[in-house]
Amino acid sequence: MADEAKFGIEKLDELLGGGLDRYTENLIIGRSGIGKTILAAHWAAEGARNDETVVYLSTTMNRKNCELYLGKFPFMQEVYKKIKWRFIRVDPKFILPLTREKIVQGLNATFGMDGKDIDRVIFDSCTDLELALADQVLYRRAMAYMSDLSYEYEITSLWIEEAPMQGEWSSTKNIVDSVIFLNLLRTEEGYQRAMRILKKYRTKIPLEWIPYDITEEGVVILDGYLVKKGYDYEYKRG
Ligand SMILES: Nc1ncnc2c1ncn2[C@@H]1O[C@H](COP(=O)(O)OP(=O)(O)OP(=O)(O)O)[C@@H](O)[C@H]1O
Ligand SMILES: [Mg+2]
Repeated sequence: MADEAKFGIEKLDELLGGGLDRYTENLIIGRSGIGKTILAAHWAAEGARNDETVVYLSTTMNRKNCELYLGKFPFMQEVYKKIKWRFIRVDPKFILPLTREKIVQGLNATFGMDGKDIDRVIFDSCTDLELALADQVLYRRAMAYMSDLSYEYEITSLWIEEAPMQGEWSSTKNIVDSVIFLNLLRTEEGYQRAMRILKKYRTKIPLEWIPYDITEEGVVILDGYLVKKGYDYEYKRG
């Protein structure tokens, strides 16, 4: 198994210093429709292509629409059936009151296999867990249990979270090793999808926005960077 868990998107892997670090938690965050699921699907496909055991937990899709959607991308050809797709609904009645045992049992039941055999897990999206727990302290504790478990089972995890249209982000970003933020930026020509690596431990990361498109091929990183023109701040005499 390669040292880093790659996306199979050359430029992105390079910017990440080779890919995601093994046995860590990682986050893709962005608003609705920005490309979180497709980016995570690239990462899932790349794992499967390298004969890793990949589990994709989806709280929003079902078996049929997932296959019609993600199964159609060229990067999924040959590997779609190798990925263990799990379609779950997070229900507060199964996780509250929250205990470590419930999280462990819930995950094991959902995986349907020994956690030790799993290499990569995608949780799309943990926003549903957050909504179900409806409490930041509980949510953070649940994340901590899951993170302990990943470490114990030697799993590399990729969590997906919906960024709120306004207001505070949840605390997931504070407890993961890396964060990729997908966004829509206003440019002179209109709008452009762009991503920023907000953090990645142990790696020097670019601070600029990296433009990308979503095409029939999935996520395609474009050349160059996006930088802000003009300044947001203005000097005021006072
Ligand atoms: N075959 C395709 N060709 C071009 N663009 C596509 C294609 N498939 C999807 N898209 C674009 O990708 C976007 C959705 O990407 P994705 O499902 O990854 O978003 P998401 O961030 O997971 O959204 P959500 O929050 O709704 O789950 C769509 O808005 C669409 O514009
Ligand atoms: Mg999605």
